[in-house]
Amino acid sequence: MLTIGVDIGGTKVGAGVVDDDGTIVAQLLRPTPADRPDLVAETVADVVRELAEGREIEAVGVGAAGFVDETRSVVRFAPNLAWREEPLQKKISGLVGLPVVVENDANAMAWGETRFGAGRGQSHVVCITIGTGIGGGLVFDGRLFRGHWGMGAELGHMQVVPGGRLCGCGQHGCWEQYASGNALVLEAREIAAAHPERAEILLGLAGGTIEGEEVTEAARRGDEAALQAFATLADWLGQGLADLAAILDPGCFILGGGVSRASDLFLDRVRETFEQRLTGRGHRPLADIRLAELGASAGVVGAADLARHR
Ligand code: BGC
Ligand code: NA
Ligand code: ZN
Repeated sequence: MLTIGVDIGGTKVGAGVVDDDGTIVAQLLRPTPADRPDLVAETVADVVRELAEGREIEAVGVGAAGFVDETRSVVRFAPNLAWREEPLQKKISGLVGLPVVVENDANAMAWGETRFGAGRGQSHVVCITIGTGIGGGLVFDGRLFRGHWGMGAELGHMQVVPGGRLCGCGQHGCWEQYASGNALVLEAREIAAAHPERAEILLGLAGGTIEGEEVTEAARRGDEAALQAFATLADWLGQGLADLAAILDPGCFILGGGVSRASDLFLDRVRETFEQRLTGRGHRPLADIRLAELGASAGVVGAADLARHR
């Protein structure tokens, strides 16, 4: 039996038809109407209809970047999108006439990676998606952790800097303001503004405003400011993982999201910082820090599998 998984990102809606082995048999990508949250359900419905054409589809799983309620229907709040109390499940199922489950995007990714990717065979997995924000997904004893009201594992919104940078969630100093893709860019911009002589490659590449791809490219070419921004990101990630290990003691961490594609620029340092900051170090095994294996498809595969086992 086939199900469809949809991953609604800040910029793209990815969708795929997935079989019970977690294999994607067909897929589509569309831009997210980011400024029109009311149109997202229609975009999702369009891709689902297109993918379902000529196939028998059992259900649809949708990963959304926000706080999803315990009935897996309503996106109550999305820090980086304009959704507030958005009845996504109802809208999409109404449009496509299939059973729909909505899940937090990082939860869907964590589930996909644990079932079919880097976490296969692991019982205690912590997944972190590093993109626009930071998403978290926990699998414990082989089950996806949702919390009492469905909105557990919002790991990006732990406060790491009292009174720090303003977060999209309305609070200050959240981890995602220091260890996400957006944070990387902010950091690079700050360093480049304060010390342009260390950012010649970066400023040359960027022309005007510095964006993420340019930070990565500049770091690969040895730009000091860009490398410093990656080092700072790595330290915040390593510290965060150490704190999470103190609470959750997972067997492995899986890092995914767009920024993890540049892992050659920060992963070694994440592991070093993690080891240095870990409580009880020297007296406990070290959780493995791995990269997501399913890449951009993890959310699609995970959401599809959650729909299958709804
Ligand atoms: C949101 C999460 C989401 C994550 C990644 C965070 O800002 O609070 O719900 O999983 O971004 O998209
Ligand atoms: Na989550
Ligand atoms: Zn926050």
